Amino acid sequence: MPYYSDNVTRNHDSKTLRGYGKVWDVVFDTMLKQRPITKFLEIGVGGATSHINWAHMFPEAHIYGVEVSSPVVPLEKSRLRDYTATLENGEWRVEQMLNAQIGFLNMQYEPLEISERIRISYMFDAFNEELVKRYINLNGKMDIAINDSKHRQNVPLLMQHWLPIVGDSGVWFQEEFASAENPGFKSGVWEQIKSPNWRLFDFRETSKFQYQCSMLGMYTQNQQILETVDKELDYLQYKA
Ligand SMILES: C[S@@+](CC[C@H](N)C(=O)[O-])C[C@H]1O[C@@H](n2cnc3c(N)ncnc32)[C@H](O)[C@@H]1O
Repeated sequence: MPYYSDNVTRNHDSKTLRGYGKVWDVVFDTMLKQRPITKFLEIGVGGATSHINWAHMFPEAHIYGVEVSSPVVPLEKSRLRDYTATLENGEWRVEQMLNAQIGFLNMQYEPLEISERIRISYMFDAFNEELVKRYINLNGKMDIAINDSKHRQNVPLLMQHWLPIVGDSGVWFQEEFASAENPGFKSGVWEQIKSPNWRLFDFRETSKFQYQCSMLGMYTQNQQILETVDKELDYLQYKA
């Protein structure tokens, strides 16, 4: 049984329904034959379900996360929420804060051996290039890094400053390479980004959850991983 499918928890239902696990099965298995997976980043934390899943799945790994919102503390929350609700997109921002708060609590409910390995940076805007440079200097390279934050068609282009975080052997994933907006997929974005190190997997016909945006981008300089996905997952690869 491949490592991802064998170890995935219910927390990952939506990602499994999309089909992303097919790629993770191949990539994780190939990487685990090369070395252990000890540093794992997912950008966009929300309710932290994913981070908790990764912490269970990789017991030797530290799981990193960055999240633009904040899990407001009880004393401050009503004042902060009232203020935030007056800002542009205020109601949506309050929703994100509530979700971040749930995520923060969810991590505390986990046993210590899980929660102590999860490291979240809140109020961190993943579009901010300078901040990202500092984050990479501070935390070093990741084996796996996944972007599940903002989902808009041009996000893969705007997040390229993250790619150095996977160095020359880690793997970067861009979830929802197509957006939930209509039309979901902009081939122009792919045309600008594609290179021998990028692959794009298309689940739009098979995804059982928000099918219109279910495409997964992958970037790596790890040749063995590129060769293995080409051999095993060619049928999923987007061909222009
Ligand atoms: C789809 S949710 C993440 C869900 C989580 N990865 C999971 O699978 O359980 C997206 C999250 O990204 C956060 N987000 C949106 N824009 C962001 C940005 N520019 N930088 C960091 N986080 C961002 C949102 O606040 C939201 O919590």
